[in-house]
Amino acid sequence: MEKIKIGLLGMGTVGSGVWNILKNNKDEIFRNCGYEMEIAKILVKDLDKKRNIDAPASLYTDDFNEVLNDDEIKIVVEVMGGIEPAKDYILKSMDKKKHVVSANKALIASHGKELFERAESNKVMFLYEASVAGGIPILSTIKESLSGNKIEEVMGIVNGTTNYILTKMTKDKVDFHNVLKEAQDKGYAELDPTADVEAYDAAHKLAILGFLSFGINIDLSSIYREGITKITPVDIEYAKELGYAIKLLAIGKEQDGEIEMRVHPTFIPLDHPLASVGDAFNAVFLKGNAVGDLMFYGKGAGDMPTGSAVVGDIIDIIKNRGNIFYPSNSRKKKIVKSMEETTCKYYIRIVVKDKPGVLGKIASEFGKSQVSLSSVIQKGRKTPTVSLVFITHKSKEGNVKNAIDNILSIEQVVEIANLIRVENGVDE
Ligand SMILES: NC(=O)c1ccc[n+]([C@@H]2O[C@H](COP(=O)([O-])OP(=O)(O)OC[C@H]3O[C@@H](n4cnc5c(N)ncnc54)[C@H](OP(=O)(O)O)[C@@H]3O)[C@@H](O)[C@H]2O)c1
Repeated sequence: MEKIKIGLLGMGTVGSGVWNILKNNKDEIFRNCGYEMEIAKILVKDLDKKRNIDAPASLYTDDFNEVLNDDEIKIVVEVMGGIEPAKDYILKSMDKKKHVVSANKALIASHGKELFERAESNKVMFLYEASVAGGIPILSTIKESLSGNKIEEVMGIVNGTTNYILTKMTKDKVDFHNVLKEAQDKGYAELDPTADVEAYDAAHKLAILGFLSFGINIDLSSIYREGITKITPVDIEYAKELGYAIKLLAIGKEQDGEIEMRVHPTFIPLDHPLASVGDAFNAVFLKGNAVGDLMFYGKGAGDMPTGSAVVGDIIDIIKNRGNIFYPSNSRKKKIVKSMEETTCKYYIRIVVKDKPGVLGKIASEFGKSQVSLSSVIQKGRKTPTVSLVFITHKSKEGNVKNAIDNILSIEQVVEIANLIRVENGVDE
């Protein structure tokens, strides 16, 4: 029986999941693809590190050339992370006509074009299902099952750490910094949480989702990105009162050939399927012009869920299903709108000195900038300052920003405490 030999670059969280799945699900994998698989080499940084994996010591190496120059290795699985040397190793593997699987969203989002083109020119397959939403098979679904659709909208909770933090802030009414600290103590959040809480990670995933959903090039610079650090329990309470949950959403939309690509905290109606996705779970809500609304839910990280996606890619390659999928010539130029041009509803919380007439002055500034208001809440009388909360109708972001600039010059206005975009998803 011919065995498929694999070179594994990295034996951390994802690498150990891949090892265990290939070992524990051997029979299922054989039944599904007709081949046995063998990890023939494992590249790591530190050969002396103690590992909870029963791989023989003879498989480990710290020299990538041992993987590259082994002609029996047909598939290289990159689960090291980082940009370099991961990129160099992937390109060299492709040049040696090895197929590649990667879970590396940061790398694909920033250098995807080069990687896809190199795979195409070498006629090798390059798959990366685990790079978005871990165990949820969203990329292959878009590429295959939904390939007869025009995707109109994709909205995802694609970062488990921030979803965990927002869920905990909502349930326990605690502020962001306390929950982050607790998440770090428990190992749910990195010691440097920037990639998660400032939404870089979610933007990487949206870049990949947009590439597959709308046929645009991967371009991080065209994605608007805003993290969750400014969300307060006060905003969460207002959201609840108004019938919304606050989620960090990665949003891509296509309308009349124009694309919106943005990641930011979002008010989402409590009856929207994404609103009930709690803790570290991920979910992707998608609208296709033929299929209608779909929602995918599951674990976006962890050794076994992420390993599941990686092993699925390996099997797709063996079944010759991992199409190259970089139809560079057939890609139409589509414009990703600037944030100023996007339209949305807005929640705007303004702290003002409690003086007669201030509400009227603010409403008038919104009107002058063509922002129409759908509701206003005023709370906190008997204190020198009060919060005024406005929900707008759908308005152009540029107009909202303009109104806010003018509102800030009203003498009684203390601060714009928060501005959060509102999505109505299914109803819009
Ligand atoms: N963790 C998840 O749940 C998850 C989910 C989706 C996607 N991903 C992506 O999957 C990738 C791997 O993540 P992970 O969490 O498994 O990382 P990890 O636990 O930090 O493991 C990284 C592995 O790569 C090895 N490595 C790193 N740099 C190396 C170098 N220069 N040369 C040789 N070996 C090197 C490390 O070797 P040593 O063991 O010797 O240090 C380690 O075994 C990342 O791109 C990540 O974004 C992860």
